[in-house]
Amino acid sequence: MDAPDVLVGSSYLVQRADHQWHSAVVLQQRAAGPSGDLEYYVHYDGHNRRLDEWVTAGRLRRRESQPGPGQERTASSDPLLESDRKITRNQKRKHDEINHVQKSYDEMDPTTAALEKEHETITKVKYIDKIQIGKYEIDTWYFSPYPDEYMKQSKLYICEYCLKYMKQENSYRFHSGDCSWRQPPGREIYRKGTLSVYEVDGADHKVYGQNLCLLAKLFLDHKTLYFDVEPFLFYILCEIDRQGAHVVGYFSKEKESLEGNNVACILVLPPYQRKGYGKLLIAFSYELSKQEGVCGSPEKPLSDLGKLSYRSYWSWALLEVLYEYRDIANLSILSDITSIALPDVITSLQSLNMLKYWKGQHVLCVTPKLIEDHIRSDEFRRPRLSVDTGCLRWVPPKRLPRRK
Ligand code: ACO
Ligand code: ZN
Repeated sequence: MDAPDVLVGSSYLVQRADHQWHSAVVLQQRAAGPSGDLEYYVHYDGHNRRLDEWVTAGRLRRRESQPGPGQERTASSDPLLESDRKITRNQKRKHDEINHVQKSYDEMDPTTAALEKEHETITKVKYIDKIQIGKYEIDTWYFSPYPDEYMKQSKLYICEYCLKYMKQENSYRFHSGDCSWRQPPGREIYRKGTLSVYEVDGADHKVYGQNLCLLAKLFLDHKTLYFDVEPFLFYILCEIDRQGAHVVGYFSKEKESLEGNNVACILVLPPYQRKGYGKLLIAFSYELSKQEGVCGSPEKPLSDLGKLSYRSYWSWALLEVLYEYRDIANLSILSDITSIALPDVITSLQSLNMLKYWKGQHVLCVTPKLIEDHIRSDEFRRPRLSVDTGCLRWVPPKRLPRRK
């Protein structure tokens, strides 16, 4: 079928990589490659912007020309959304998160909707489609504010050790031969088998911190820290082999957080995702809070994948403690033992149906049987990787005494 004359700002049916046709809006066009053929940047209706992409004209159809039978994915083909099936609010929320269904502006409060619209206008188009880092070529998810002359490249080359970014493959090859780094800067504070965590102070390693944030932004929609890295510590998780320490993911943490956050941003690079590293980093962040003797919570908003990972970690951590100390009756004790901030303890226990609201207070309502049932259920996922505190070489930094 002939490609239509494409209008930026209009709606089309677009064929995704899975060959299904989806309704999408064209946000931008560009001439691509040596042939100069036009490509179009599209956003799929109702889907997370991570799925926005550049497509060739051959993958676009006018809306009037309907796709063949069974090609277009409709809401009713989705088992959880079928109208004759009742689903609970919890199931709907989980379904929306797993399928990355985006809230519409109408579902948001006016301030959030206004901020969201502004954010989308500024970051609408992502030009950098791919990065090469170490042995991986990775498709990017979101816009990241690399300097202008890098921003419109479709591929960037990134040194996996010092995170320097380059436009040309030649400069990358030259740099790879020349760069003497084989691990992140800073101090190795954890080592178990082939896994290490390095602590990097943003004030001591500003360029590294900025490069890390620019790289991370390619996979994070809502974070805005890129250049002001001094107030942050970065915890970099690496897989070690004979070549060096290969970055898997990281989390950042404010040195002094007024909101009590123990994580600002958390990321696992796509080739390493869904192997348990995300929950390992989350567990690590709570381990540091335990050593500091405080509770903590991740900075909001959480992304869809962030919510799935945190909810899964919280449920596991709380059930473990409830199973071990069966006589706990107090929510703040649970929060103290796990270092999970009280509001997160409350939402997690609510979703496990373990809380009652009694005389204006949340009351823990569990029996040993309920705990065992949860632990045996499919929803309970023991993390694949856990932190061995015996391998942690870290003492909390000394805090300046607070002025009264
Ligand atoms: N679809 C469905 N479920 C998923 C997906 C996915 N694409 N990815 C992870 N999960 C689930 C896993 O099934 C697992 O749950 P389970 O153990 O109950 O089955 C849970 O999420 C965590 O899995 P891990 O393998 O430990 O997590 P991973 O290594 O994939 O890292 C992370 C999770 C860090 C959120 C990663 O997806 C990522 O970097 N995403 C992009 C950046 C991002 O969104 N970061 C969080 C932003 S919020 C903040 O920064 C405070
Ligand atoms: Zn380098």
